Amino acid sequence: MLSNKLTAAVGTLLGFAASVCADNPIIQTIYTADPAPYVWNNTVWLFADHDENGSKTYNMKDWRLFSSTDMVNWRDWGVVMSLKTFSWARADAWAGQVVARNGKFYYYVPMTRNGASYGIGVGVSDTITGPYKDALGKPLVANGAIDPTVWIDDNGQAYLYWGNPNLYWIKLNNDMISYSGSINNAEMSSFQGHFAEGPWVYKRNSTYYLVYAGHCCPEDIRYSTASGPTGPWTYRGQVMATQGASFTNHPGIIDYKGGSYFFYHNGALPGGSGYTRSIAVEKFTYGSDGSIPNMKMTTAGAPQIEPLNPYAQVEAETIAFSSGVTTAASNDGGIYVTSINNGDYIKVKGVDFGAAPGATDMEAVVCPLSGQATGQQDLFFKFVGSGGQDLFNFNWWQFNKGGAAAAK
Ligand SMILES: *[C@@H]1O[C@H](CO)[C@@H](O)[C@H](O)[C@H]1NC(C)=O
Ligand SMILES: *[C@@H]1O[C@H](CO)[C@@H](O)[C@H](O)[C@H]1NC(C)=O
Ligand SMILES: *[C@@H]1O[C@H](CO)[C@@H](O)[C@H](O)[C@H]1NC(C)=O
Repeated sequence: MLSNKLTAAVGTLLGFAASVCADNPIIQTIYTADPAPYVWNNTVWLFADHDENGSKTYNMKDWRLFSSTDMVNWRDWGVVMSLKTFSWARADAWAGQVVARNGKFYYYVPMTRNGASYGIGVGVSDTITGPYKDALGKPLVANGAIDPTVWIDDNGQAYLYWGNPNLYWIKLNNDMISYSGSINNAEMSSFQGHFAEGPWVYKRNSTYYLVYAGHCCPEDIRYSTASGPTGPWTYRGQVMATQGASFTNHPGIIDYKGGSYFFYHNGALPGGSGYTRSIAVEKFTYGSDGSIPNMKMTTAGAPQIEPLNPYAQVEAETIAFSSGVTTAASNDGGIYVTSINNGDYIKVKGVDFGAAPGATDMEAVVCPLSGQATGQQDLFFKFVGSGGQDLFNFNWWQFNKGGAAAAK
């Protein structure tokens, strides 16, 4: 073990693959799909489905959570809900969305059921990070329902929408786990045949937006708008053309700290495909008429909103980009970085070491920095060791000004 080292370096490490310059896809430790971003407590919470590595068809068992306050460094919160949460579920932990109400968090997700087709279940938790429990013991809606999106209007009325290849909606009751009236079939003539699945509904100013995957398959992203939450919808255009190695796509849109962000998925991670997808994000600006611009998938991703402070304890699973490593949950529910092999690395972007005296060293297995780290830098943790596999686990790190720093 003595020869196994954690090396912290600031600036660019020479000889690294070009991918260290990329921030998209935003999660590299697992394959993620169907982004459902949610802004709560001044943080972006990104709920995601999870494609098992090596899948040749849909193989999805749990739902994952990540968070960020700067849009580039994402903290991994692990599994927040899984098929095991729902006694009636058989397989297919597919696209869902979370919303907060009455001091609780509600997570709407589709699954296939034992002996039946898809149904949408509801997970509920007192904290956004879960774990979520089955609120109903059965699906809220069944008969093949997939791709739920939830929206609470200004007057408090909540709506759940879903559907492939038709769009359906219901009025949720205040308890968020039952509904009033019947299941409605949205009038779709104005969609001009573009709607396929993956609806994402929200309101901006007085306009209701319905963003969706079009033209299965390969899919692109389109949108329609309306003056009310149930339409009639007017087709507005394409948001993102078909691009990359995934034959599906799925939208998620938020405003955060004054910017607007479009989340989607593709197959851009090594080993990526339509069954091993990855979530990516772009920043955009609405047109003066409320239009969403047409965007391309990039490897650059969204710009960093604010620098990261290295003088407070930072969880090691806070990552802008990584290679080789994975994360796991400890017995107390905390997450740590593991599967660390020789040559693997973690990049933490835009770390602000401040003016001199900056950070002079960092201790894990002791790690002197050559010189002093000052100013705003990308921070790389590069793992070096003999004996090949699983050098050590990595839980958190912290620098101190002009002195030793710590990591565990
Ligand atoms: C998938 O598995 C391969 C082979 O073990 C590994 O190299 C790769 O990092 C994994 N990728 C993800 C995203 O889990
Ligand atoms: C909200 O975020 C702050 C700052 O990160 C944190 O200290 C606080 O615990 C969070 N509140 C809740 C209810 O999680
Ligand atoms: C539209 O909404 C955005 C985001 O809430 C806000 O910043 C902007 O001022 C609004 N524009 C108008 C014309 O109301």
